[in-house]
Amino acid sequence: MIKTDISDCRFADLVEKARQATENSYCPYSSYKVGSAVLTDDGRVFTGCNIENGSYSAVVCAERVAVFKAVSEGAKHIAAVAVASDEGSPVPFPCGVCRQVLTEFCTPDTPVIVFDGDHSVYDFTLDELIPFAFEIEKG
Ligand code: THU
Repeated sequence: MIKTDISDCRFADLVEKARQATENSYCPYSSYKVGSAVLTDDGRVFTGCNIENGSYSAVVCAERVAVFKAVSEGAKHIAAVAVASDEGSPVPFPCGVCRQVLTEFCTPDTPVIVFDGDHSVYDFTLDELIPFAFEIEKG
């Protein structure tokens, strides 16, 4: 994990799109705004925000919204992931469920860049966040 300045960030544009996506966050229950942006291997960028629900188990994280938007538009390979929040530092994003979802469409060395409330950038690989990930052979 490297803590650095946004200007040194490998994916500054992607991080900025994730930050902008926090503005669409629908979080009337937690007031916890999260945004995400994923870069697909064909050069497209898909963004997402967290979307909450009065039935709490229906809440979906920003990262999964971005990934599912990408996959539903025909993308199957994600080259980089950014997550942003105004919350404190360090922010332990993505959550475990989102890490597992990312393993399906990323490789272990896919960069996952986290931008937090201190405006610090954490530069991970997916493998650092979810080593020994669950997978089964595709049928
Ligand atoms: N949340 C995300 O969007 N991404 C994460 O990785 C963790 C949590 C959202 C879900 C919920 O709307 C709020 O943050 C508080 O848990």
